[in-house]
Amino acid sequence: MRVLVIGSGAREHAIVFACTRSERVDRVYYCGPENGGISMIARHIDISPDDFEGLSRFANEKIGKDGLTIVGPEAPLARGIVDRFTNDGLVILGPSELGAGMERSKYFCHLLLGKYGIQTAPFRAFISQTGAKEYIKERYFLNGNGNRCVIKADELMAGKGVLVPNNLEEALKAVDHLFSICKDKLILVEDYIAGNEYSFTAITDGKRMIPFAAVRDYKRQFDGDVGPNTGGQGCFGPVLNFADPTFVKMASIAERVIFALGSERIQYRGFLYLGFMVDKEGEPIILEINVRLGDPEAQVILNLIDSDPVELFAAAAKGDLKDMRVRWKNESCVCVVISSSRAGYKIYGLEEASKEGALVFHARTKRDESANFHTNGEGRTLSVVASGKSIEDARSIAYNGARHISFWRKNPSKGKQYYRKDIAFLDK
Ligand code: GLY
Repeated sequence: MRVLVIGSGAREHAIVFACTRSERVDRVYYCGPENGGISMIARHIDISPDDFEGLSRFANEKIGKDGLTIVGPEAPLARGIVDRFTNDGLVILGPSELGAGMERSKYFCHLLLGKYGIQTAPFRAFISQTGAKEYIKERYFLNGNGNRCVIKADELMAGKGVLVPNNLEEALKAVDHLFSICKDKLILVEDYIAGNEYSFTAITDGKRMIPFAAVRDYKRQFDGDVGPNTGGQGCFGPVLNFADPTFVKMASIAERVIFALGSERIQYRGFLYLGFMVDKEGEPIILEINVRLGDPEAQVILNLIDSDPVELFAAAAKGDLKDMRVRWKNESCVCVVISSSRAGYKIYGLEEASKEGALVFHARTKRDESANFHTNGEGRTLSVVASGKSIEDARSIAYNGARHISFWRKNPSKGKQYYRKDIAFLDK
């Protein structure tokens, strides 16, 4: 069978890698900006993830009705790629355009969850700066109730649309900032929920779901969980046993979300990612919903699956998870994300990292004629992933691998790579 993966970041590298492990798959294609790492194991096609017409034509010719398309990022889902492929008779894994509304619009998501009695953070939505600012002053500062707020844009912002201000001045600036970049859109002001954050992911066929291992993601840029929110600087899992009461509660909330979507006749076959905050009593509350695998969570979750992932993906896409079971490796897995300040640095140490036992997934790299890899953009560039019998084992392999990797042009002592040093340290 043939597989087409939409997208070309480190998450998609992990998806492609998982597909190549399947005995059912004889060829994998991917689209999006060419990625040096993915091109080592899959064929790149020069069609934009926005060009649904071109992708559907390609899938009809090369993937066929027996093949499978898997969508990595949220943007093509939010623009309706699944509706288009489904109308064209192709098998594709991902929610419909309406289903993707759960991530595209936080307001829509709150309304739907509220209608079905699923708890989220108390919130208000605003179309004007004045209204938002008055509400923030009144609710969080004037009454001195000590609560903090979270300010969110009501559209896709690639991980940059959520701001957590530390004081009134920052909160007011956050409102101005989000309104300036999201013209004519709502912004939401939510109560800040304290606790431990977990990424819970399930795969669903729209009726049933199979939960994946829960993962802890490190969203802040710097060690000690400080600095701006990013897409994720690393993660590890599993963080909870499948039988843990908190995990069971998360799975039950996910089932209620799937029931809510089904009751609204919203077609949803794909990954459902619930970001939970868990309080001291172990009660989870939904912070956000994403309609795809997390990045870097996918790099860990897919690496923990022992059974054939493509069989699972195809069953969900066809609406039939009934007889599916997932076998999990009895291991822990850690991912450390390495970032670059810009494109054009040569990447050193990839072979040494793999000799340590680490897998390296590429986000933005390209390969030159001499088979050397170079950074191909700023920000998250590589995901160094390692498994071990314990979190400590996996962490030490991942960091031993990451330490070999450097990005530089002239002076090796001034490597331009950056990564957090505290991923998977449980007491931090
Ligand atoms: N790592 C967070 C996300 O993928 O949204």
